[in-house]
Amino acid sequence: MTSLPAPTTDGTVRLTDRPNWLYLLREFDALYRLGSAGGSAAIRSHRKRVRDRLSATIAANPAMLAPEPAEKPVTAHFARALDLGERGAMQGMARALREVRDDLSWEYGYEKLSRALAQKYAYCEVLGPKGPVQCDTLILGFVLFAPNTTYPQHSHTDIEESYISISGAWSENNAAVFAPGSLILNRSGHEHRITTGDRDPCLLAYAWCGPEARLAAPDMKLTATRKARQPS
Ligand SMILES: [Fe+2]
Repeated sequence: MTSLPAPTTDGTVRLTDRPNWLYLLREFDALYRLGSAGGSAAIRSHRKRVRDRLSATIAANPAMLAPEPAEKPVTAHFARALDLGERGAMQGMARALREVRDDLSWEYGYEKLSRALAQKYAYCEVLGPKGPVQCDTLILGFVLFAPNTTYPQHSHTDIEESYISISGAWSENNAAVFAPGSLILNRSGHEHRITTGDRDPCLLAYAWCGPEARLAAPDMKLTATRKARQPS
């Protein structure tokens, strides 16, 4: 049995000084520890990487950074996404997320973003190189989509990404409809495009594993899929 690290005496705010953030990470830990890999060796090893890095981070009682809280237009849908999440299979995560909602820093990540997508998409990190829980080996966060959104095709170089559906219905590459509790793995370089249902917002938790230098500078870019038509 391990004990919690000793309280800090140097004035640094650490994870155990912010119990709501610790409990949110416990929810991530439970999802990646207790859920099923569905028989997939690739998903099993990804789940283990996430929980090993998360466990090591929690045990180290890292510093809490304090990014400036920020909203985006899509966060007008956040309350509905949490409400739906609290009624379903991911209620523990949705409730834990509600307790830190005032401290979340919602961002776009892309230098270039269409006006339409800027209205319907944003993400917030909860753990990573920039905080709020400081960690160099793993990024955890949430992405929020308005109803009836298309998140254009993209891939992640050197980064292995998993989504866990918290609320709403969505599809990736037109392959299936995912419901709360579903886990989707996107390996490095895998091109993916997301669409969301037309009645309610969609909230996904995500985890990124990759080399520390890449996690520090993910270089997010949407894939150019529309080429100029050649005159016939
Ligand atoms: Fe992605």
